[in-house]
Amino acid sequence: MARKLAAGNWKMNGTRCALDELSALAKAHPDPSVDILICPPATLIRTAASLVDGGPLLIGGQDCHSQVSGAHTGDISADMLADAGATHVILGHSERREDHGESSDDVNAKARAAHASGLVAIVCVGESLAQREASNTLDIIGGQLASSLPDGCTAANTVIAYEPIWAIGTGKVPSTAQIDEVHDFIRARMIRRFGQAEGAAIPLLYGGSVKPDNAAEIFATDNVDGALVGGASLKAADFSPIIKALEGTV
Ligand code: 13P
Repeated sequence: MARKLAAGNWKMNGTRCALDELSALAKAHPDPSVDILICPPATLIRTAASLVDGGPLLIGGQDCHSQVSGAHTGDISADMLADAGATHVILGHSERREDHGESSDDVNAKARAAHASGLVAIVCVGESLAQREASNTLDIIGGQLASSLPDGCTAANTVIAYEPIWAIGTGKVPSTAQIDEVHDFIRARMIRRFGQAEGAAIPLLYGGSVKPDNAAEIFATDNVDGALVGGASLKAADFSPIIKALEGTV
């Protein structure tokens, strides 16, 4: 079984002074029993990686290009992220799918690039409110998984994050029964596609309005191996109790 993972997605938040929060987090968790990952904006990755070097905290990117290099103004390759000290990269976040028109095929190509560079790909899937209300959630998630994941996914190179779009930044959280249903479905799909050993071990994160006061209940759900946290990962004082709640399950 892969280690559980508490991942923070800082999105487009944070200048250099935000690294104080990273230092505070490192100090509060010198020997964690779960993996702790912070994905800061690209401008902070190198400095953040240097800051946590030698300790248990991990640093990741929020996106990468599918090509290794070339004429792609403004983009960052997986190799560049790895070179800057990143170990993980978030791919196919709903904000990238919406704001940048990323398709699941694009995400698939990016995941292949991430794997080729030795990065763990955190592949995000999730339904909109309209899709949930139309009872299409599992169809949507199944389709996103089938198209976004390349062959060769293992527990060592891939993490899945289930992030219902309607729960992101809204304070609305699905019921544990709803999370349970989707995570069980994702687990079954992982086993069917990647085999029992890898499929059963690929970490499945829940994301969307995870806070200190709801983390323990979410982490008690079957097949929830951690969280991808937005707003509550920006301050060590908020993220730390979420990490401790996850540690309470191991
Ligand atoms: P919030 O935790 O702010 O809802 O964001 C979730 C998210 O999108 C993480 O990737």
